Amino acid sequence: MKIFAGNSNPELAARIASYLKTQLGEVEISRFTDGEIFVKIRENIRGRDCFIVQSICNPPNENLMELLIMIDAMRRASARRITAVIPFYGYARQDRKDQPRVPITATLVANLLVAAGTNRLLTMDLHAQQIQGFFDIPVDHLYASPIIVKYLLDKKLPNPIVVSPDIGGVKACYAYSQMMGCGLAIAAKQRKNARDVEILGVVGDVAGRDAIMVDDLSTTGGTLCSAGRALQQAGAHAVYAAISHACITAEGLDKLKQSPVKELVVTDSIPLRDTRDFPVTVLSVAELLGEAILRIHEDQSVTSLFRL
Ligand code: R5P
Repeated sequence: MKIFAGNSNPELAARIASYLKTQLGEVEISRFTDGEIFVKIRENIRGRDCFIVQSICNPPNENLMELLIMIDAMRRASARRITAVIPFYGYARQDRKDQPRVPITATLVANLLVAAGTNRLLTMDLHAQQIQGFFDIPVDHLYASPIIVKYLLDKKLPNPIVVSPDIGGVKACYAYSQMMGCGLAIAAKQRKNARDVEILGVVGDVAGRDAIMVDDLSTTGGTLCSAGRALQQAGAHAVYAAISHACITAEGLDKLKQSPVKELVVTDSIPLRDTRDFPVTVLSVAELLGEAILRIHEDQSVTSLFRL
């Protein structure tokens, strides 16, 4: 087994390698003067089971292209199997044609990965479950929920309730509420454009409760801020947010400071280097991914990793 890392999240890749008590594979990634990417695998991988850790996070085009080129280099170097370990699968929000003449980028990225030579995918908290079906290769889809729920339970909030900040997230939030043994509420969101959202109302009784908004990601922070305000108006005692992928921008964090959200819980699927002094708790998924890599390599079940 060999584990390699692209440049998107070297810290997470190092933590995964450390969990597996191994060194990251040697790879040179550089740029030609015109910006094209050059990759050279600096060790023999003939017949090896290769894993490449790379999130398709900001800058997504650079990180995606780097991943594709690494896969191509490994295929041509006769790797036995190439697993793309993509903790954050970007371009996933465009997963359907919801208006005329728009792309389905989640499928496009899947096709690119397979065309480059990916044999299997290991990913976490996809924007929508059905994206697994966009691949005709095996997909192992992990959940950060056991790690996030454990942290939230350890906080011993007196009266928690899980809140889905949009209708699309209800199923995932229901799973959180079951794991936490508490109720579920929903904020009905309407997106006006890429930057602005409007919360039409809160379904469920959040008065006096510690509301925990759970979402797969946040970018502008607009959803969390608007839903947070709606929860406060509906009488919530305190408002927290837990998101799997910290795509949030610096402006988004600044916006959160002006909102009722007390704390943002994220995972390290994406590096969040500047928290703008907002209370952010980063939980590592390195052990989860490392254990999944080990089990894939040894042809063992990964199902037990889904449990709390
Ligand atoms: C939407 O479907 C996603 O789950 C997030 O709610 C959304 O992408 C958050 O974006 P923003 O932080 O820009 O409101």
